Amino acid sequence: MEILQDGKFHSGREIGEVLKVSRSAIWKKIRLLESKFNLEINKVRGHGYQLASPILLLSETALVEMGLPDICPFYIYKSLSSTNSEATRLLEQGVEPPFLVLSEQQTAGRGRRGKAWQSPFGANIYLSLALKVRNGIRELEGLPLVVGLAVMQALRTLGMDKVGLKWPNDILVQNKKIAGILCELTGDPSYGCHLVIGIGVNVNMELGCEGAESIDQSWTSIKLELQRLIDRNNLICIISKYLMKYLSRYAKSGFTVFHEEWEKNHLWQGREVVLTTGTQQFEGIISGIDHSGALRLNVNSSEQRYSAGEISLRLLNKL
Ligand code: BTN
Repeated sequence: MEILQDGKFHSGREIGEVLKVSRSAIWKKIRLLESKFNLEINKVRGHGYQLASPILLLSETALVEMGLPDICPFYIYKSLSSTNSEATRLLEQGVEPPFLVLSEQQTAGRGRRGKAWQSPFGANIYLSLALKVRNGIRELEGLPLVVGLAVMQALRTLGMDKVGLKWPNDILVQNKKIAGILCELTGDPSYGCHLVIGIGVNVNMELGCEGAESIDQSWTSIKLELQRLIDRNNLICIISKYLMKYLSRYAKSGFTVFHEEWEKNHLWQGREVVLTTGTQQFEGIISGIDHSGALRLNVNSSEQRYSAGEISLRLLNKL
C-alpha cells in the first residue's frame, strides 16, 4: 500500500519488483486492500494500479523521526476494532502506562452515548492514551474538558481558527463536529485504576466516503476546511504534545486553572439549548461551567448543574 500512496499509477511489474512477489500475488493483495480496507483502486491496462484518492499513511518511522517516543511510547496498527479496546487490552496484559495506541482503521469505533464512530482506513486520527489514575476518580473532575481544550489548541496550530468547543468535550467548526473524545475507566476505582482517553479527529475524510452517510450529525474534516491533504503523522505529534502539556498542568493544579480558557472557547456560551438526560428534557440558557466542569444551565431563571454522563445537548433555535 505504501507504493500506491502517492496517488500515481504503478505497473504490476514495478510493484512485483519492490514486493518480490508474482503478478497473481499482487492481484490478491489489491483485492485484499479493496475488501479489508475499503480502498478504491483504479486498474488500467497498460498503466497498472492507482489509488482513487491519494492517501498519506501513518508511518512508524516518520513518527519516531518526529520525536513521538520522547512525548509518549506508542503502538501502531493497520486495523483494530477500537483503539480504546486495544489500550485496555494492553493495560490488562500489564503494559505500563502512559502509552498511545494508533490505528489506520477501526472496525468498531465507539462514540459517546453508545454511538458508533465511523473510522475509515487511512483518513482520520484514531488515538487512545492510556494513563494511570493515582489519586482516585475524584482526581478526574473536568479532565475530559481539558482534553478537549488540548485537541482544540492542537488543531489551531494548523490554521483552524474557527475551531471551538461544545460541552462537555465535542470539538466543532461552526456547529459541525470535527473531533470527539471518549474517556473510559478500567479496573476498580477503589484500588488502582486506569484511564483510557480516546480521541477521534476527522482529518482527511471527504463527503461521500465510506460510512459518512451514517453519521447522524453535521460534521466536517480538516481537509474539507483547509482544502489540503493533511499529514496525520505530524498532527498526531502535535496533539500528543498538547495533551501531555495540558494533562501535566491539570495533574498539578486541577481543573480550576482551565476554567476561563474553556469558557472563552465554548461556542455555545449564552445559547438557548435543549438538554436531554435519559427520558427528561430541559430547555435553558447556558451560563457556563463550574469549578468541576459541570454545565451551568439557566432553566426558568434558576441555575441547574449537570455533569457530563449520558447527556446530550442541541441548540434550541439553529440560526
Ligand atoms: C464522541 O462520541 O464524540 C466520541 C468519539 C471518540 C472516538 C474515538 S476514535 C479513538 C477512540 N477509539 C474509539 O473506539 N473511540 C475513540
